[in-house]
Amino acid sequence: MRIGTMALAAAAMVFAGAAAHAGDGADASGPIAGRQAGMLMSGALMGSIKGALDRGDDVKTLGFAARSIATWANAIPGLFPAGSDQGDTEAMPAVWSDRAGFEARAKAYADAAAKLADLAKAGDKDGFAAQFQVVRGTCNECHRVYKKPDVH
Ligand code: HEC
Repeated sequence: MRIGTMALAAAAMVFAGAAAHAGDGADASGPIAGRQAGMLMSGALMGSIKGALDRGDDVKTLGFAARSIATWANAIPGLFPAGSDQGDTEAMPAVWSDRAGFEARAKAYADAAAKLADLAKAGDKDGFAAQFQVVRGTCNECHRVYKKPDVH
């Protein structure tokens, strides 16, 4: 239930940010705030999943969280529109100069999270635990190149 509430909050904030600033490339604060909030909440969801795994919860209860992460991952490229490299952001210029690479990282993340959701649905505990590490790896793979390394 806690995970479900957090996922809904994450989704609501992301969609609110995207809707408010659709077509408004001049105001970069909207997508920056939206993507940072989504990143933080995806981190919180990952922490909740990890806690559930450590407790030995039935992985079938983690499907909603995993699906939420996959949905968020698909939304990432749209929250880095042209012009949003300026302002209070930790995004590297490579997000825009190497767009194909960035989008490939987002897709790898989305695919890994979708697979995680499938494993939850199947109730495959060992498979889920292994795939959770894969998903976590996709965070780091993107951050390594596209996010300034000072924090997180
Ligand atoms: C496709 C690339 C990509 C993937 C995949 C990705 N991130 Fe990020 N993340 C970024 C970028 C770029 C930023 C900097 C955003 C900004 O400051 O504008 C960021 C920022 C963050 C932040 C800092 C938010 C803040 O402002 O305090 C956290 C936390 C974070 N990511 C967690 C995660 C977690 C956890 C995952 C995986 C479950 C993940 N990210 C996957 C690109 C990615």
